[in-house]
Amino acid sequence: MTTTERSDWISQRAGPLHGEITVPGDKSVSHRAIMLAALAEGRSQIDGFLEGEDTRATARIFADLGVRIETPSASQRIVHGVGLRGLREARQPLDCGNAGTGMRLLCGVLAGQAFPSILIGDESLSRRPMQRVTEPLAAMGARIETRDRGLPPLRIHGGRLRGIAYATPVASAQVKSAVLLAGLYAEGETEVREAHPTRDYTERMLAAFGWPIAFEPGRARLAGGHRLRATDVVVPADFSSAAFFLVAASIVPGSRLLLRAVGLNPRRTGLLQALRLMGADIREHAPREQGGELVADLEVRHARLRGIDVPVELVPDMIDEFPALFIAAAVAEGITRVRGAAELRVKESDRLAVMAEGLRRLGIAVEETPDGAAIEGGCLLGGEVDSRGDHRIAMSFTVAGAVAQAPVRIGDCANVATSFPGFPDLVRDVGLVLVER
Ligand code: S3P
Repeated sequence: MTTTERSDWISQRAGPLHGEITVPGDKSVSHRAIMLAALAEGRSQIDGFLEGEDTRATARIFADLGVRIETPSASQRIVHGVGLRGLREARQPLDCGNAGTGMRLLCGVLAGQAFPSILIGDESLSRRPMQRVTEPLAAMGARIETRDRGLPPLRIHGGRLRGIAYATPVASAQVKSAVLLAGLYAEGETEVREAHPTRDYTERMLAAFGWPIAFEPGRARLAGGHRLRATDVVVPADFSSAAFFLVAASIVPGSRLLLRAVGLNPRRTGLLQALRLMGADIREHAPREQGGELVADLEVRHARLRGIDVPVELVPDMIDEFPALFIAAAVAEGITRVRGAAELRVKESDRLAVMAEGLRRLGIAVEETPDGAAIEGGCLLGGEVDSRGDHRIAMSFTVAGAVAQAPVRIGDCANVATSFPGFPDLVRDVGLVLVER
């Protein structure tokens, strides 16, 4: 399933952006919905499912583990859950593709199974650190073999687990979720504490599926020995996908866009706060609850942006949005400083290095530090950048092209399909000028 095709894009200067759009379903919620529905007893319907490569990989893996999943339409799944103990050993290695969330959360689920499993991923995922999940899972009693120093492929020998109290050393919802999912299978209580609270979808969804769990920002606690009851899930539109449009409309003069029903979980919306500090004009309309999550329509208009010191406490709440923020910073007046964001170096690419390199190629002065960068706003020239197969970097430089003096050619964009299939058509619908080669 790994994306092998290369695709290069050319993004050119655009006029004002206009339109009312809905971006695809949330990736984090879609992964978790498949997982919990598969482990629940009975039939769950998922609406608004992200039909991207990452989440389809997770669905395929549960099918390989013996779960029947129907696809009545692209954004729907019906999952016939097999119960906590109903998964079957797969005949082949389980391919997570490009998806760190898929692989890390699956480690937690598979650690509790009475059969062994092998998890593999694409080239990028095979370079990403897995020790952060294998260590706590080993402390719970799982045996997980990795390639040198914690890299995939992972061989998971699950079995009897015991609950632990775990303080996560990095701010990571994936680590927290892996430990909590293993905790479903563990004897006794499992507790995760976080110095910096991260997205709480696993906690909220476990509660929605009927598992007793106590949680608050920075802390979650559950015990093994319960059951998950099938539940329908409505997936909100992904804030991380909306982010590219928030930045694009903010920086292209004369723009006005409306993004419908965007998920506004507070652990995801750091970029909204950062952009507002920079002077962005983004309004929330009709806030409402959808499937247990806060959503609202976001109206964004062009505004003059100024550089800021990004408050370090916002970093975990905007961890996926830094590539987009870097583009806003590149055209803002003055310097934008980011610190406390070393995690960006172990995402789908080293996002600090790849964004810095790309922006410099477009004429922007960027100083890179071990845990951040200083970006001096200026004039984006045209040129060639390489996304290094990182979906969010490809989409960010597409946005940059809209205000650049000359075309921006972006290499290696095929992985945009991991999180945002349909991105090229949607950006063209609102007025961006994008050619795919
Ligand atoms: C995610 C958590 C974050 C984020 C990723 C999705 C999740 O990763 O970057 O895109 O769904 O739990 P980390 O846990 O590594 O910060």
